[in-house]
Amino acid sequence: METQNEKKILLSAVQPSGTPTLGNYIGALANFTKLQNDYSCIFSVADLHSITVPQDPAKLRANTYDLLALYLACGIDPEKSILFNQSHVSAHAELAWVLNTVTYVGELNRMTQFKAKCQSHADNINMGLMDYPVLMAADILLYQTELVPVGADQKQHLELARDLALRFNNRFGETFRVPEPYIAKTGARVMSLAEPDKKMSKSDANVNAFISMNDDPDAIMRKFKRAVTDSGSEIRFGQDKPGISNLLTIYAVCADTTVEQAELEFAGAGYGTFKQRVGEAVVEKLRPIQERKQKIAQDKAYLTKILAEGASAAERIAYKTLRKVYKKVGFVPRERM
Ligand code: TRP
Repeated sequence: METQNEKKILLSAVQPSGTPTLGNYIGALANFTKLQNDYSCIFSVADLHSITVPQDPAKLRANTYDLLALYLACGIDPEKSILFNQSHVSAHAELAWVLNTVTYVGELNRMTQFKAKCQSHADNINMGLMDYPVLMAADILLYQTELVPVGADQKQHLELARDLALRFNNRFGETFRVPEPYIAKTGARVMSLAEPDKKMSKSDANVNAFISMNDDPDAIMRKFKRAVTDSGSEIRFGQDKPGISNLLTIYAVCADTTVEQAELEFAGAGYGTFKQRVGEAVVEKLRPIQERKQKIAQDKAYLTKILAEGASAAERIAYKTLRKVYKKVGFVPRERM
């Protein structure tokens, strides 16, 4: 595909369901800013995905603006990257439909996340929930994406996107680029503060288990004070120390240091002091982001402009792929007269 430059296309999306956590920040958002210098980045607010579980419409709208403001506050530059709202580009839903016809029900039935959501949303196992990975494949394939940064929980979905691209290409001729996972060099994975063998999640029933990007300093300090530690008293990274290791990871990122340096820094210190220092580092890391975000969030005209421009830029690429797909499957092209 022709692009204005030689940079590889990297795409990522976040659902506007609830406020992102410190885990989302460290695992994804913090790296996006750096990525946009090396890649042609496309960042999307995946609102179509979010309605696969019940959303309050007013909250969904607010969360969408909030996430957009957070993306911008974290340093995503709309001059460098495409930032848009998924539902603004109807090609996503359109390509998902076509991809549905090359996806096997059995494939979707086997998806780990679908099975988990069937348990957690037993009263609402809707088709969207099952079709979620196909829509995600459409997100990726529409832009001829080369790289998708994925955490462990999204690996299987990316694998499906690759399978669908290959299957479609085999059946109809070369159409999609087959995407690859982008593995970040610093693979920091942030765990729950209450159960450090679980990923930090914004949907955790225990609010003390996660730091929301909107948490104020008091809440942050309180949550770190309560954070679960391990037996022993050593501040050391290791499999036998999931709680302390998680805190060291968080500290290293937020205090701009390394885990090794942090171990030296806290040699001989007690857990109490350590947790306090981690909390302070997080407060200081989030403060400027929260301040920027608040300013941006108040400027609705600016957000509207960003969304409008982002949608136009995304649409140009997306429809080029969709037209190709429609042609390949044999649809008569629409002519305008
Ligand atoms: N399913 C992803 C998540 O919850 C969000 C997402 C939607 C996504 N479309 C995508 C991620 C495309 C990467 C590429 O994390």
